[in-house]
Amino acid sequence: MITIRGLKKEYPNITPLRNVNAEISKGDVISVIGPSGTGKSTLLRCINRLETPTSGDILIDGENVCDKKADLSRLRRKMGMVFQSFNLFGHMSIIENLMCAPMDLLGKSKTQAYERGMELLQTVGLAAKADSFPDELSGGQKQRVAIARALAMEPEILLFDEPTSALDPTMVGEVLSVIKRLADDGMTMLIVTHEMNFAKNVSNRVFYMDEGIIYEDGTPQQIFENPQNEKTRIFIKQLKVLSEIINQKNFDFPAINSRLEVFGRRQMMSQKQIYRMQLVFEEVVLQKLIHKGSIGEIRMDIEHSEREGSVNMIFEYNGEKYDLLGDEEELAVITLKGIAESIEYKYEGKKNHLILSI
Ligand SMILES: Nc1ncnc2c1ncn2[C@@H]1O[C@H](COP(=O)(O)OP(=O)(O)O)[C@@H](O)[C@H]1O
Ligand SMILES: [Mg+2]
Repeated sequence: MITIRGLKKEYPNITPLRNVNAEISKGDVISVIGPSGTGKSTLLRCINRLETPTSGDILIDGENVCDKKADLSRLRRKMGMVFQSFNLFGHMSIIENLMCAPMDLLGKSKTQAYERGMELLQTVGLAAKADSFPDELSGGQKQRVAIARALAMEPEILLFDEPTSALDPTMVGEVLSVIKRLADDGMTMLIVTHEMNFAKNVSNRVFYMDEGIIYEDGTPQQIFENPQNEKTRIFIKQLKVLSEIINQKNFDFPAINSRLEVFGRRQMMSQKQIYRMQLVFEEVVLQKLIHKGSIGEIRMDIEHSEREGSVNMIFEYNGEKYDLLGDEEELAVITLKGIAESIEYKYEGKKNHLILSI
């Protein structure tokens, strides 16, 4: 359905895409992953020609998007695009957002556009919001409307650029479940995402981008469990680790708590495990170290071992020897001992190290 050959995109100071080659078949659901700045967004924008590639070919159903004579508006109609930032029209109601392009560009009548729009809102669970305005919707609802609006153009392929990155963690699921349904219905999709859980479970292929190329292309199992190339391995390994440094009393507790939640979800931890992780963080850092007062810098590293289903939480803090689990009677200590499967404490190189496995 899409063939990308020798695709290059250079900007004055940087060449995000050096030589991208790919074959995308009908029904493929491809997650595009990789460190930031590796050209993932640029690739999507070249495919739908929001950007002009420097060189190379992108064939869509045999037709070259890069050809100067290509009928871009017709080619673009084959592709729907969903952005991180929704991009709904604020002055139009939800149903009007869905009706305008089909009427303007597909020549649909008002009734046809309305009926199809309502059907699509039904599909994304938002028929009740047809007459609301974008401002009245949550982020997750807006993104579902954006997906419905892209679908209203009857595209052959949908391109998503980090569709859940701007959302509150509680709203990610509703958007991903809409995308999953489209995948089940056989929609061809290319999805730039940081949701590894989703990439593993929903896509049939994963592109790992780095070095200006599709550095590794494989099934989710190959990429996540047995990556072949060094950079892929490093990237996948990093995904399993979260590090936080706390160096002042008034640190942003909710922000770290929410990063724990996002990390846990991306790691496919159960809600219970995420809660335990947050509880350990709160007890160790807030109840013990911060309240005790004498602490300089605290470093918290979290590693998730999927195979063993365990989470290691490693706390490192400066100062004198202080085993914060010393007082067996204390509530925080009882809580921590109740949650952790194993606890190890050592004092080494003038640093305290506490490792809890939960
Ligand atoms: N319009 C532009 N002009 C100049 N540089 C750009 C432009 N768009 C993107 N870049 C640069 O190209 C690189 C790749 O960007 P992008 O495709 O957004 O990466 P990703 O989506 O993987 O994070 C980045 O270094 C970015 O700064
Ligand atoms: Mg991007």
